[in-house]
Formats: sequence, C-alpha cells, structure tokens
Amino acid sequence: MSLALEEYIPEKIWLCRYPVKFFGMEIDARMTVIRLADGKLMLHSPCAIDDDLRGALAALGSVAYIVAPGTFHYLHVASAQAAFPAAETYICPGIERKRPELEFDWLLGDIAPPAWAGELDQVLVRGNRWIWEVAFFNRETRTLILVDLVENVTDATPHVDWQLKLWWKVVFHMWNTPKPAPEYQLGWSDRKAAGASLQRILEWDFERVILAHGDLIEADARRVVEKAWERPLTATS
Ligand SMILES: [Fe+2]
Repeated sequence: MSLALEEYIPEKIWLCRYPVKFFGMEIDARMTVIRLADGKLMLHSPCAIDDDLRGALAALGSVAYIVAPGTFHYLHVASAQAAFPAAETYICPGIERKRPELEFDWLLGDIAPPAWAGELDQVLVRGNRWIWEVAFFNRETRTLILVDLVENVTDATPHVDWQLKLWWKVVFHMWNTPKPAPEYQLGWSDRKAAGASLQRILEWDFERVILAHGDLIEADARRVVEKAWERPLTATS
C-alpha cells in the first residue's frame, strides 16, 4: 500500500506518515516535503519512495534535495536517491560514521547552504552522546521542523505499539507530555553546549512544530518546546 502525501500548508509543505520500528516497537514517523521559492522540493527525513509516491512528488515539483536531518533519520535516504537520482543529499554529521556506505553530497551545519539560504534557517544541536540533529525553521510559514528533538505521542496518536506506550508512560514519562526522544534524555553529555544550541532555535519566531513522532504542535508552540527542553536548557540559565 502506498503512503499518502498530505498537503499541510497550501502550496508550501506536505507531510507523509510512515511506519518505523523503535527497538522492535512500532510507531509512525513523518516525512516533510518543502517547496522552495524556486519551485524545487526538499525531502526532509524521507520515507521509502515507491512508484506511486515518486509520481505524487514529481507532480509537485522537481525533487532537488534529500535531507537526513538526524543520526536516527537516514534509513530511507538510499530509496529517495534511487527515486530521484539528480537530487543532492545533505546529512546530519554523525551519519557518515554510522553508515559509511551511504552516498552524500554535503554535511549539514549551522549555516544554511545557498540552496535554501534565506528561506530555511538551521541549527546543529550539539551536546549529546547518542544522537544529533539539525533543526530547521521555515521563515515564510513560521514552522519549526524537527525529527527527534521533540516527540509528542498522546492518546490521539495513531499506530502506537502497546509496548512503546508502556515505555513512554512508565519509564520516560513522555506520554501526553512532549519531550525529546529517549536517546536524548539518556545522553545529554554537555548540557551547556546543548542548551546553547536549543536557545538558538528558540530565537526563531515559530508558531507551529512539525516533528517525526506523534502529533504536530500547533498551539502555544514556543511554550511547549521550552517545557520539553527544560532539562538541557537549565544548564545555561
Ligand atoms: Fe526518530
């Protein structure tokens, strides 16, 4: 069955949910498709691209950029590259060590490359021993685009494995409570560096958050994100 592409912000941003496994437990992840001012498309955290999805994306524009934004969000990059061989691939630092066979063109950092400078800002979040991520901010739509820096799994989230629900509730206390992924919570090794990165993200004027796992955050977004990052942020205050 082909995955559905959902128009989220008219003519600008599309979303596609796809199933993933976390230590054998099922949950959905989310690909974000961003149409840049020149009409080119960025695939952020791509899912596996089958023929139907390739056709649906090609109908929206030319897929020019494939982005693996986090060190746990690269699994389907090769599938996206096969579907769109002319696209350039940008990866979060760390992926090249985990998957040396993965072909890529550029490493992501704190400075937006010319391809999307002025439209998308970015911050590489440092200070964690297990997981790194590059956060993006789409200026025009005031959208913060994350993968694992905030998860928002709630009673309303579809396709959540009961075992994952148990872990999220009992161990990580992140059921109905937006928080960073468990790898973050267990791995803050330099909270000062992490806090400085997160503060840079909070300087962006965002009004909604797209994230990989759980429900989108569309109300009181800044307060929700600040609360989710309370632990690493307190190291800088
Ligand atoms: Fe994830």
